[in-house]
Amino acid sequence: RVLAGRREDLAGRHVVVSAGGTREAIDPVRFIGNRSSGLQGYALARTAVARGAEVTLVAANVALPDPAGAKVVRVESARQLRDAVLTAAEHADAVVMAAAVADFRPVRQSDTKIKKSSAEPDPIHLAKNPDILAELGEIRRSGREAYAAAAGDGRETGDGPDAREAAGAGGPRPRVIVGFAAETDDVLANGRAKLERKGCDLLVVNQVGENLAFGTPDNAAVVLTAEGGSVEIPRGPKEDLADVVWDLVAQRLA
Ligand code: CTP
Ligand code: CA
Repeated sequence: RVLAGRREDLAGRHVVVSAGGTREAIDPVRFIGNRSSGLQGYALARTAVARGAEVTLVAANVALPDPAGAKVVRVESARQLRDAVLTAAEHADAVVMAAAVADFRPVRQSDTKIKKSSAEPDPIHLAKNPDILAELGEIRRSGREAYAAAAGDGRETGDGPDAREAAGAGGPRPRVIVGFAAETDDVLANGRAKLERKGCDLLVVNQVGENLAFGTPDNAAVVLTAEGGSVEIPRGPKEDLADVVWDLVAQRLA
């Protein structure tokens, strides 16, 4: 798909890709996880490198070799993924959230292995994780100082004249925010509602099932745009889907 003429169309751009699936610890040996293999996120990172981008890949629990030329940050939980993504996003042109982020985590995490006793097992109580994609949209709307506030690291935020100005050329960052959504039913309606709820620019909607998506080399999807458009990506290698995503990102950055 990548034609010679546009091979370097992401040169000078910094993109952040999250990949894999988060794990939320129950105790030192057990976790709540999901089936994401990281293949789609890694394909996105590889194709972005091939198109000339500086790539930060935030990888959650993947069993894949580091893509050559990308900076890889390894994380385990949703909260670690959030910190890594927000840190990198501050200076990014685009963020693509291909990772499957756990919506909930156990409220308490045992320091020691939970033993099987004769008593009935305790229930696992869950708390909501931060929604990183929605947060990115909110931070972009409210300006650069929101990064410092979100990171909670006490950095000088100053009260500069204009947050948009402080964000530098091209306006608030990241300039393009891309989400992924796996849906099993009412795929397009759910996808459209999700895009609007999360305030992203593009949402790549996968239909789960029919041997697609999880752990397979192929994928098929519809990309919804914030303007109400949609681009269908027929079943094919995850690299092809990645290239269509970068085509749409490059268009928006141009
Ligand atoms: N996402 C995120 N943070 C979360 C959950 C999801 O950033 N805590 C991102 C995912 O990386 C993905 C997008 O949001 O890019 C959509 O994830 P999905 O699970 O489909 O959306 P949810 O809002 O969690 O809705 P659902 O109830 O369908 O799980
Ligand atoms: Ca979810």
